[in-house]
Amino acid sequence: MANLLSLNDLTVSEIDEILDRAEQIREMGDAGWFAPNHLLVANLFFEPSTRTRFSFETAEKRLGLQVLNFSSAASSTQKGETLYDTVRTMQAIGAKAVVIRHKKDEYYRELLEGIDVKILNAGDGAGNHPTQALLDLLTIHQEFFAFRGLTVAIIGDLRYSRVARSDAEVLNRLGCQVLLSGPEEWKNEKLPGKYVPVDDAIEAADAVIMLRIQHERHETAMKLTKEEYHDRYGLTRERAERMKPESIIMHPGPVNRGVELDGDLVESAHSRYFKQISNGVVARMAALEWALDLKDGRQASEPER
Ligand code: CP
Repeated sequence: MANLLSLNDLTVSEIDEILDRAEQIREMGDAGWFAPNHLLVANLFFEPSTRTRFSFETAEKRLGLQVLNFSSAASSTQKGETLYDTVRTMQAIGAKAVVIRHKKDEYYRELLEGIDVKILNAGDGAGNHPTQALLDLLTIHQEFFAFRGLTVAIIGDLRYSRVARSDAEVLNRLGCQVLLSGPEEWKNEKLPGKYVPVDDAIEAADAVIMLRIQHERHETAMKLTKEEYHDRYGLTRERAERMKPESIIMHPGPVNRGVELDGDLVESAHSRYFKQISNGVVARMAALEWALDLKDGRQASEPER
């Protein structure tokens, strides 16, 4: 064992020894070197995250994958490196998949040519949040055992929420009636669903999905105070009392207690907020298995050892 601080500390024969060993490892390739479960996955989060980031990491570890965690603030993106070059670097290091959250809508388009690792979208701007939609589907299915015929209300910042888009599109495809509600200026005509007043949406829904206000994407400050927003568009205790008895409350998080919904409702009998977070781990395990073609922790195409 020795420190490696400068190559001046190594003899020429030590340098040769290391180079020979590196060449041996390269020649063995992944199949010869990595233990079966040691595929590398890099988590590249360019926007803050708690749930998605840590549930992906947990999912990766439970699958036996090797995890590279990246902090954009401490990375060479601070020196001007592009997203493409960052991901291409992860590929060169050996990552088989990258999990990316980025503020740019459809950031992944610039990666689809030239990058040969699987990309799992952990949220692109106001675009999509596919694994959130998967965990939301899982949560709804655990409750109602089906999608067709259910009424799901999605309420709040419909324009800037990637969760709203991913959820509305897939729920509509699966045969749910999607009700939409929220402030006029945050309407999103591209979402499949019917706009109704917030009280009607809450009273009719089997599942009520309250959205976080996406302040970070707004060009101008919200006109309403938090209290005014809560009264007009939030899930207040009074509105919750008018929900159907078997209906559930959902929220992608992070929740602003007292704004999108009353603080006490977060852990009420109707709420599935923390259940959603737990479901995030298993939904992401399944998504990683699908993306990496994993079976029992190894790539299905890999030979048995
Ligand atoms: N739901 C969600 O994406 O939460 P995070 O931003 O904490 O990952």
